Amino acid sequence: MSHTAPRLLDEINRLRSELDDANYRYYVLDDPELTDADYDRRLRRLQEIEQAHPELVTPDSPTQRVGASPAEGFAEVEHAVPMLSLDNAFDEGEVEAFVKRINDRLERGDDDLAFCCEPKLDGLAVSLVYERGRLISGATRGDGRTGEGITSNLRTLKSIPLKLRGTAIPELLEVRGEVYMSHSGFEALNARAREEGSKVFANPRNAAAGSLRQLDPRITARRPLEFCAYQAARIDEGQAAGSHSALMARLRELGFRTSPELAVVEGAEGVLDYCHALGDKRERLDYDIDGVVLKVDDLRAQRELGFVARAPRWAIAYKFPAQEQATRLNDVEFQVGRTGAITPVARLEPVTVAGVTVSNASLHNADEIARLGVMIGDRVVIRRAGDVIPQVVRVLDDERPDDAREIAFPDRCPVCGSEVERIEGEVAIRCPAGLYCAAQRKEALKHFASRRALDIDGLGDKLIDALVEREWVKTPADLFALQADRLGELPRMGEKSAGNLVRALEKARHTTLPRFIYALGIREVGEATANNLARHFGTLQALMEASQEALEAVADVGPVVAAHIHAFFRETHNRETVAQLREAGVIWNEEAIAERAQPLAGQSWVLTGSLESLTRDEGKARLQALGAKVVGSVSKKTAAVVAGEAAGSKLTRAEELGVEILDEATFLARLEEWEQA
Ligand code: IVH
Repeated sequence: MSHTAPRLLDEINRLRSELDDANYRYYVLDDPELTDADYDRRLRRLQEIEQAHPELVTPDSPTQRVGASPAEGFAEVEHAVPMLSLDNAFDEGEVEAFVKRINDRLERGDDDLAFCCEPKLDGLAVSLVYERGRLISGATRGDGRTGEGITSNLRTLKSIPLKLRGTAIPELLEVRGEVYMSHSGFEALNARAREEGSKVFANPRNAAAGSLRQLDPRITARRPLEFCAYQAARIDEGQAAGSHSALMARLRELGFRTSPELAVVEGAEGVLDYCHALGDKRERLDYDIDGVVLKVDDLRAQRELGFVARAPRWAIAYKFPAQEQATRLNDVEFQVGRTGAITPVARLEPVTVAGVTVSNASLHNADEIARLGVMIGDRVVIRRAGDVIPQVVRVLDDERPDDAREIAFPDRCPVCGSEVERIEGEVAIRCPAGLYCAAQRKEALKHFASRRALDIDGLGDKLIDALVEREWVKTPADLFALQADRLGELPRMGEKSAGNLVRALEKARHTTLPRFIYALGIREVGEATANNLARHFGTLQALMEASQEALEAVADVGPVVAAHIHAFFRETHNRETVAQLREAGVIWNEEAIAERAQPLAGQSWVLTGSLESLTRDEGKARLQALGAKVVGSVSKKTAAVVAGEAAGSKLTRAEELGVEILDEATFLARLEEWEQA
């Protein structure tokens, strides 16, 4: 190494520390400074140098997170300190009894003992060992004494430091915490799996478990896994803090993410208030939690209390009502979506899960049914968490009735009777009939009329169903031929509403090119893509004639989406529909598109909390269409934060930094102003 130029070594060190800082700011402080592009540029430069000088690669270099080569199996790792479990409290009385027990044992009769409260994350416990500041081993919990060594997999998680940060690095540190997957990460992973026709996961926990136990760390590296620390099992004598909360603050300094919901409260009352508040917030968190972990904050008191059997006396898990319930699978029906995908839907004996009655659940596809091994008549476990649609997570095999039936996939479309298509490499089956299939026609029309498409006021789902069933409307163009007197013949349609609908159709004729493209309902073409296509091609004609290659040159359009668009416009009946729509008087101003300004170009926006009148994805697409970048966390450079209902730490952060905050109403008003400009 003596011949390596010192300048190169300087550069390597600088790049590594900048990349480590960027990860820390992103994952621990929730306050990124580097843009994605700047991060990628530095990572690529470091990879280049390391490739040319393999002798300079170190195991803690940020380049080493991409995943090592596959392992044969996992080695056994003995835990130096056993990984315990927690006792559970299932109601408030049990929480109060726990607090009282502790006060009695500590011989303090008062009600101001401090507890550190954190969400109980629903993922997998792992243990990480650092020697002289370097990650040397990572393992699963296993049976509490021995776990599986999954160091190479854990190294791929950017929220796990490969090297501890700061000064006074402990000689030895063993950190424990939970590996989990966020709802948004889970949805994105499943969307990708569906697109590629590979296996979808039933819930974020299964996805996290499956991702962590991969023999090939390169697969783990592509999964959106996160780590949150909740315990220091071993730390140098001199570094031990006086309280659990101080220890968590120290872990943050050393580079670990800890829960942003962590709080120290006093006595039973404080603990119960915290449980209620987090219970209310649960549905809006972007990750699954199944309760609250309450820990005596004072570490001396913890030592005094000690352990019973397999759990500490100084902590307890207060469990929220279950998100899983067992019920009977009465039948499976097949639903035909807008693009012809036929999905099996479980019809269930209605059951209340975490306060909501569930009578349907998605079964996704044939692979998922095979994985579950589920039959009609089975008792199944249903899980409902946050906004994720209810899922069948497993079958209670022992309770299978004698008359249980196999789930048979249809050979023909349940609505139009066309022979279904099984596409190579895809698990989904499809009805190929397109707009000839009444189910697809209804869905296509609903999409066409929807608010973000042609926005036809008063044309609701029920009305569309009626129009399609009477065969008054076959293609979107037929809508524009509807006459008020004929509409008046429909049930529940008065003269006045018929007139209103005709006027709404008249108004909807004047649209914009992005809306029109979006309204066509081409597979995988959402609002943001429709906007990019309109901007790129300027006219519908140019888009219709574009080659696959030309389509791939558009921002956010990959080979799959390009193929869908290309195929759509090669279909004769789609071209006819477009021509009919233009004949029916649907118009837009093509010049305006090409020149439309992007008033938010170069700005970073953050959306947080839940919005009432639009989904976050819609908000994001509309901001992107105006040129903004939508990012996950707030920094000094954030242009504005849109704060919905129950916005949390990002809102606080924006207030601290003096970043502009918009409520939903103001946000919508501004969007409309900019879009109209
Ligand atoms: S503390 C000795 N804190 O719950 C106590 N555990 O039932 C160590 N868990 O295996 C655990 N979130 O996987 C603790 N904030 C949290 C937690 C948490 C989730 C899990 C952990 C553990 C299980 C115990």
